[in-house]
Amino acid sequence: MKAPRFFQLDSLDAGLLAAEAEAGLRASAAAVSPKFFYDLLGSRLFDAITELDEYYPTRTEAGIFAAQGAAIADAVLGGTGPQPVMVDLGAGSCAKAAKLFAAVQPRRYVAVDISVDYLREALAGLQREHPAVDLVGVGQDFATRLALPAELVDGPALVFYPGSSIGNFAPAEAVRLLSQARAQCRQGGSLLIGADLVKDRAALELAYDDPLGVTAAFNLNLLRRLNALLGTDFDLRQWRHVALFDTRHSRIEMHLEARETLTVRWPQGAAGSGEGGERRFGAGERIHTENSYKWRAAGFEALLHAAGYGAVRCFTDPQGWFGVFVARA
Ligand code: AVI
Repeated sequence: MKAPRFFQLDSLDAGLLAAEAEAGLRASAAAVSPKFFYDLLGSRLFDAITELDEYYPTRTEAGIFAAQGAAIADAVLGGTGPQPVMVDLGAGSCAKAAKLFAAVQPRRYVAVDISVDYLREALAGLQREHPAVDLVGVGQDFATRLALPAELVDGPALVFYPGSSIGNFAPAEAVRLLSQARAQCRQGGSLLIGADLVKDRAALELAYDDPLGVTAAFNLNLLRRLNALLGTDFDLRQWRHVALFDTRHSRIEMHLEARETLTVRWPQGAAGSGEGGERRFGAGERIHTENSYKWRAAGFEALLHAAGYGAVRCFTDPQGWFGVFVARA
């Protein structure tokens, strides 16, 4: 039986992260990147979100794969040829990719996540089920730059990016990431990607502001993370979760809104700048924490073409709520 290999390509520098968070807090319109959601608790809260009735994307995407998996695999293999290298972006538990192994039969599976530590357990389990497949875990901040060593992707590849995470990028950044993904496909290849589609405002806003308050907890946890990373003194009770659909940008915006006028302080040295800091927030003032773009199928196809892809096929659910796209690299 083969054994999984692991490479941590990007360093996880807490000082750099803290400096980035501090710059966001100091900005005139305060904004902190959604990447700060995902500490251990944040990842668990996100998993809980995917179990909610109101959060339709995860189960709708899974339904598309369950109903149309064979046609999707045919479309993918039409671009890659048999037994491609499979590159999974944001692989986490590797569960979604594992379901495709039977149909796609990858000769190598390269799971990419910000830290290889997130991948160790999942790849060990996957290797027991697929002893002949070459399994590789790569720690890379692919949202900033995706560039895999040539020896890992040494032929036509399938780049797999499910879950509609592409929606967390503004269109120009999405084109940059999709172009880098296309460069990984090498000599032909296919992109298989999930994108959430536009639907009525009520369904969208309920998915991002569920009555159980799980999404609110997920959003507020970002302040806990900043307290740990930067030493800020955020009191979570002074903040509330806001999620609204902005039709102009076709995106859900998540914010944290100050319930009252308050000042947040952080100590000297926390962000490597040598200086401490503070920021006053007026009642109702917000920190922008996430965008989640919702696409029309034709608009997402145009985005893929802008990133250099050729023929595109789109598979949707009966309601047309979610799209699984296969694009020729
Ligand atoms: C990870 N990403 C696709 C989720 C989304 O739907 O934009 C993150 C999320 N934010 C709130 N709920 C889920």
